Amino acid sequence: MTVLAILTAAGSGTRLGRDLPKALVELGGFPLVLHAARRLAASGVVDRIVVTAPPGLTAAMSDVVTADAHVVRPVRVVDGGPTRQASVAAGLALAGGDDDVVLVHDAARPLASPELVRRVVAAVRAGHPAVVPGQPVTDTIKRVSPAPVSAPPTSGPAAAGPAVERVVETPDRALLRAVQTPQGFDRALLERAHAAGAARAGAEHLAATDDAGLVEALGETVHVVAGEESALKITTERDLAVAHLLLEERA
Ligand code: CTP
Ligand code: MG
Repeated sequence: MTVLAILTAAGSGTRLGRDLPKALVELGGFPLVLHAARRLAASGVVDRIVVTAPPGLTAAMSDVVTADAHVVRPVRVVDGGPTRQASVAAGLALAGGDDDVVLVHDAARPLASPELVRRVVAAVRAGHPAVVPGQPVTDTIKRVSPAPVSAPPTSGPAAAGPAVERVVETPDRALLRAVQTPQGFDRALLERAHAAGAARAGAEHLAATDDAGLVEALGETVHVVAGEESALKITTERDLAVAHLLLEERA
């Protein structure tokens, strides 16, 4: 009975805007994907790692992660797909019969701690088949209508204003969580969720932004454990600067 970690690193990092994929961008002298792989390994609860690589970069990604002295786990690198969901599916195809737990983790969250990895795996082991880390939110969140907004009836000449959206709902902030990775799953459940998700993606040209969403779509329960600040996601240069600060704080 083993834990497989799928480390998604096949994205291009468009919003970061560098001339190399985000997972290979360096933070404190090491590529983001290596930070993430080292912390997965340091948790002591991950038995093997599959990394999804951008098109044409499988060898470069292998050079970064497979020879590192801190990773010391069997690591395989596979071609990712055109969406994150497709990349996870490519990694999942390498799951073996012994892998009873699968973690899905983003290289874009390089500083997610070994403690967080252990917390997620422990919750799965305790009988929760789908587990995500979540943080309380500090902003008030509104749900808006995606439909175009028609201008209200007006008697006089309408002044041209900024684009507006219509608020539909204000969920109770105390019950909202900003969800992170690693997300942990019973392998059979994750495989079932991806199979159903792939069928929907084909029909509706939709891709899920996280794996727990695919499990929810099956009608199965997802549980939340406490997340952490250091599991922040690197999307922009500003996020990278914040990650630098966190790394220095912990040094
Ligand atoms: N990812 C992946 N395969 C894809 C797209 C994304 O494996 N086809 C991975 C990314 O490498 C990242 C994680 O999924 O670790 C979260 O994606 P995101 O933060 O959106 O990264 P990018 O897609 O690389 O960034 P951007 O959307 O700005 O291009
Ligand atoms: Mg993306």
